Amino acid sequence: MAPLRVAIAGLGTVGAAVADIILSRNTLINARCGREILISAVSARDRHRDRGVDLTGIDWFEDAAEMAMQADAEVVLELIGGEEGIAKTVCENAISSGRHVVTANKALLAMHGTALAKAAENASVGLLYEASVAGGIPVIKSLREGFAGNKISSVHGILNGTCNYILTTMRETGREFDDVLTEAQDLGYAEADPSVDVDGIDAAHKLALLASVAFGAEVNFHAVHVEGIQFISADDIAFASELGYRIKLLGIANQTELGVEQRVHPAMVPIDSPLAHVEGVFNAVVVEADAIGTSVLQGKGAGAKPTASAVVSDLIDIARNTVLPTFSVPLSELSQPKTVSLDNRQGPYYLRLMVLDRPGVIADVSAALKEEGVSVEVLLQRGRSEEGSVPVVLKLHETVEANVRRAVEQIAQLDSVVERPCMIRIEEL
Ligand SMILES: NC(=O)c1ccc[n+]([C@@H]2O[C@H](COP(=O)([O-])OP(=O)(O)OC[C@H]3O[C@@H](n4cnc5c(N)ncnc54)[C@H](OP(=O)(O)O)[C@@H]3O)[C@@H](O)[C@H]2O)c1
Repeated sequence: MAPLRVAIAGLGTVGAAVADIILSRNTLINARCGREILISAVSARDRHRDRGVDLTGIDWFEDAAEMAMQADAEVVLELIGGEEGIAKTVCENAISSGRHVVTANKALLAMHGTALAKAAENASVGLLYEASVAGGIPVIKSLREGFAGNKISSVHGILNGTCNYILTTMRETGREFDDVLTEAQDLGYAEADPSVDVDGIDAAHKLALLASVAFGAEVNFHAVHVEGIQFISADDIAFASELGYRIKLLGIANQTELGVEQRVHPAMVPIDSPLAHVEGVFNAVVVEADAIGTSVLQGKGAGAKPTASAVVSDLIDIARNTVLPTFSVPLSELSQPKTVSLDNRQGPYYLRLMVLDRPGVIADVSAALKEEGVSVEVLLQRGRSEEGSVPVVLKLHETVEANVRRAVEQIAQLDSVVERPCMIRIEEL
């Protein structure tokens, strides 16, 4: 059988590792897909940079967009990144010229996934993106193939290794967020501009794709409620441990009777939950479905080799002629579900207030909670201070989010409450 010819746009962390796997595992890949995978063309910005792989004899294109249309290739790998610009053009050009696209680009797909999937379906080519969610964990494949006989009710998990590393290190060392973030940047676990990770945007990109493939719905990034981890303090992490929880940045997508709920925010999970033990840069995805019950997938969510492994698995699928609908179902079957507001969430909550140590403060806080019908399960107060503020922590019984939010607004107005209350949802997952 003729080799599968592949053009690679982008030879950075992921692109170079993909080239390395293809070039060094030739025999293994041949045996697995019955056909050779051959790199016929590449493009990056700097032709002279050493990529650590031998690219002799492979066509070099100065312009990746041109390569996507002109290369002698059936597949174009988009491994440049970015939600607009050259990455989008490369995908559009490859599809319009009848080539399959494999990408690791969650930002692009979260924004333009439905449009690109439409273009790919019209051109009868595949749009494959295993590497874009949870790196080396085959979660798209599991949802689209392994669990295809199930009605999936929830997909949730730890989708950003940078945030998980920061939260894990804060717990292990008792240090504050800013300090640990700086260290993560020095170690290369966080970008110079960390906002896409720590603000929750990267996890939200991935969650939007997971929700789409799990529920057969159009990708709707704008429906994701997003909160980051910047406001989590060392105190919150210590109080969480005292209450029997760990704090994790979770992405949660639920199919409910009212529609689809999608949210990314820090949450407390019980110490005995599987997610509590996913530490450092690791990712985990939990799938709940009617036939399988609960399934947990865990592994390396980023890095050159795990991500390249996922890209190559997509290539092997194409080489085997297994090209499936982008989001599990053909586009004519994709739904546009209603967005369920977070105001409807029901569950327990953690509240940390920084208060002046004066008589009557707890009574004022209790009055605000009572007015909204919210009751307290646990109250913790630590330390005394005649001048500064002290933390008061409340674990609230299961209640409706809208009520908690109104109570928090009232509490924030109290003279004795010196900073904005910190509210963290408790997820009994
Ligand atoms: N790194 C990870 O662990 C990881 C994990 C999952 C998904 N991803 C996704 O994988 C994609 C690539 O990430 P990465 O970490 O490999 O990025 P990277 O190391 O920054 O590599 C980007 C590559 O794109 C090339 N490039 C930039 N602008 C270009 C242009 N106009 N034309 C042609 N090539 C261009 C760069 O060329 P030069 O090398 O010449 O500068 C570089 O080779 C992104 O979508 C990212 O979100 C990455």
